[in-house]
Amino acid sequence: MDKRKVIIDCDPGIDDSLAIILALKSEEIDVKGITIVSGNVHGKKGAENALKILKELNRLDIPVYLGECEPMERKLITAEDTHGRDGLGESFLPRVEEVTYKEGAVNFILDELKSEDITIIALGPLTNIAKALEKDCEVTRKMKELVLMGGAFKSFGNCSQVAEFNFWVDPHGVEKVFKELKRKITMVGLDVTRQCVLTPNYIEMIRQFNEPLGELIVKITKFYVDFHWNQERTLGCVINDPLAIAYFINPELCSGKEYFVDIVTEGKAIGMTLVDEGDFYREKPNCLVLTEVNSKGFMEMFLTRIFPKHKEDIISILNNSKYGLN
Ligand code: BDR
Ligand code: CA
Repeated sequence: MDKRKVIIDCDPGIDDSLAIILALKSEEIDVKGITIVSGNVHGKKGAENALKILKELNRLDIPVYLGECEPMERKLITAEDTHGRDGLGESFLPRVEEVTYKEGAVNFILDELKSEDITIIALGPLTNIAKALEKDCEVTRKMKELVLMGGAFKSFGNCSQVAEFNFWVDPHGVEKVFKELKRKITMVGLDVTRQCVLTPNYIEMIRQFNEPLGELIVKITKFYVDFHWNQERTLGCVINDPLAIAYFINPELCSGKEYFVDIVTEGKAIGMTLVDEGDFYREKPNCLVLTEVNSKGFMEMFLTRIFPKHKEDIISILNNSKYGLN
């Protein structure tokens, strides 16, 4: 099988970690590298976290590059309240000693993009991509496509009524990417990710599998579950980032429409995604905005790829209405 080449640009992060796990358990994808941006935690912590997850997966062969540690113009605001002091749900996994992360994510991205067959799946603020554009616009435009988790169209925000976290942290980065990339961009925003909830029932099923990866997932999501309950009375946790990976693997999981998209970069509505549904700007669409998701299909992909031995149990539980999952 011809694998599709990707760079995962992220800020791990609990759900970023789940996304990395899903990607590395999916044989359709060849992960050329993981590039790190500040977001959920400072970039240096995020890079250490990526290594910790790679070690759990026995994939320390995949390079991790640290990128931009400050947004384009705003001062960095991190999300330890959501992801824990260590960014991995206060699991405090030991630091990886065998390998270290490298510096220079933007140069790595530019080098890789020269081959013209690389998709970037961006799961954090868009600072690294914006910096790549600033450094070498022509090479950055060799990107096959950009699939990003971020933004909110009809859904309310998670940092303010109108702003989603990744867009809110670096709105100027988003603005630059939407204006200048001129490649296919798909926005996997809160409209679709909010429908992907890892409920306590799923978490209990994962625990029952009694596998090391299951233990890891239970451990890192506990803090996230508590946060969701305290913040918005959601039972379980919304796992945003893995949906971007799942959609890249199987675009039939989501649907949406192409729009011209812009962002608010200052004031009360900073970070708000402006989706020009009414065609007020008379601009050409620059983004496919996803609005519908088959959340059961997503969950099936997520769980069966990470726990293939338990495929039968997973499908039977997913289809059993007594668990209230469908
Ligand atoms: C996004 O923000 C971060 O907290 C998550 O990792 C995800 O990328 C959701 O708004
Ligand atoms: Ca993220």
